Amino acid sequence: MAVALVPPRHVAIVMDGNGRWAQRRFLPRLAGHKQGVESLRRCVQACAQRGIGVLTVFAFSSENWNRPQDEVSGLMELLAKALTREVPQLCKDGVRLHFVGERTGLSDKVREGLAQAERETAHNSRLVLNVCFNYGGRWDIAQAAAQLAARGEAITEASLDRAMALSHVPDPDLLIRTGGEMRLSNFLLWQAAYSELVFSDRLWPEFDEAALDEAIAAFHARERRFGKTSEQVKA
Ligand code: FPP
Repeated sequence: MAVALVPPRHVAIVMDGNGRWAQRRFLPRLAGHKQGVESLRRCVQACAQRGIGVLTVFAFSSENWNRPQDEVSGLMELLAKALTREVPQLCKDGVRLHFVGERTGLSDKVREGLAQAERETAHNSRLVLNVCFNYGGRWDIAQAAAQLAARGEAITEASLDRAMALSHVPDPDLLIRTGGEMRLSNFLLWQAAYSELVFSDRLWPEFDEAALDEAIAAFHARERRFGKTSEQVKA
């Protein structure tokens, strides 16, 4: 009898390739980000249907402020609009939203939009969706260390872990990057210590259910040893 495979509890994604998707169609880069939102909607539903409990996505990095001003303001606008439009459906699908990242650099309008979306989805429990926005892995480690220092707490792995911005979820089991590049780009530097990494050549707007299933199949084919030997894991 076939044994049902347990889905990864937490999947994290670097949604790369929106710009190239648009450029290949002679469209402005922002058209790629808009299509990226569609792809994200599809991915959230697919994760919920597959029994994945947590999805964490990289939507705007601390370094993305260096992009052309119209692209930055377009991304802010896109986020604000997506929240207004998507929250009712996210509630129907049982999705709880968390925004992870530095909020002080954001406009009042965007900050209030994030807080409202978190409040409106707080009662949902089928899937936690962490949207990393104005986020960097180094920022997270530094802010966690600063919290501990301010409280006079000793810095240990456990205390840092509790102070990190993703302390409400387990570490990602599977980290996917689309768009063909093979790097972390300052995403989840602390939490990805033992994540299985899967790199897909698909551009993010083209990352569909089949591509997600391929990444999950690659995850299932890995042996997770967490520092042990293969023999120990099998015993
Ligand atoms: C990287 O592609 C993608 C981003 C910097 C933004 C990701 C955002 C989305 C998928 C939309 C969802 C976000 C919001 C605001 C709700 P890239 O532009 O670096 O692509 P390229 O490598 O082809 O240039």
